[in-house]
Amino acid sequence: MPLNRFVAVSLAAALLVLFSLAAPAIKAQQTEETVGDPERGRVVYRSVGYCVNCHGWPADGETGLLLQAPPGPNLRQTELGTEALTEIIACGIPGTAMPFHDRAAYRDGRCFGMELSDFAPENAPVRGKTFSDTDVANVVAYLQTYVIGRGEPTFEECAEFYDNPSAAACRGLE
Ligand code: HEC
Repeated sequence: MPLNRFVAVSLAAALLVLFSLAAPAIKAQQTEETVGDPERGRVVYRSVGYCVNCHGWPADGETGLLLQAPPGPNLRQTELGTEALTEIIACGIPGTAMPFHDRAAYRDGRCFGMELSDFAPENAPVRGKTFSDTDVANVVAYLQTYVIGRGEPTFEECAEFYDNPSAAACRGLE
């Protein structure tokens, strides 16, 4: 075997070994990353995903400026756990206004095993802003940390949400 061929073959073999060693480590890291950051999740809820337009800033489905119709349900009272929240934010709820945010939703079967062409036009899922998997986890962490189980929205909560006590949406709550 000519020397350069030999080098190429051994290099390929060495790379293969390296990859099979590295793969489990990469997987473990991804699992840890799915623990979301609630502060980043608030920014996604407020300004990246426009959840606020339909669910309202406190996510009660009624408080806020110019809520879009039909408003989203009260997430403060939702009984959904991590897995269901993640799936709904990633895949939306087809046939309703709740949009999907996963970049590959309805392209490769990852959402309910369905693709866009499987839906009649009136039941098609609505496309929202595209989030990374990490941002989906961040919004879930935000809901679980600051929203689910809370009672009536308060002025303090509003000021914290907008990072601004003079925000127009907080007027009248003092
Ligand atoms: C265009 C309006 C709209 C936007 C934007 C929107 N939603 Fe929704 N959402 C809805 C509606 C309407 C429903 C109820 C659908 C149904 O089941 O009839 C819903 C349902 C949900 C549910 C299920 C609640 C339950 O208890 O069943 C969750 C969770 C949710 N939305 C979270 C979010 C988050 C987080 C965002 C932003 C990333 C968001 N939504 C953006 C309209 C919206």
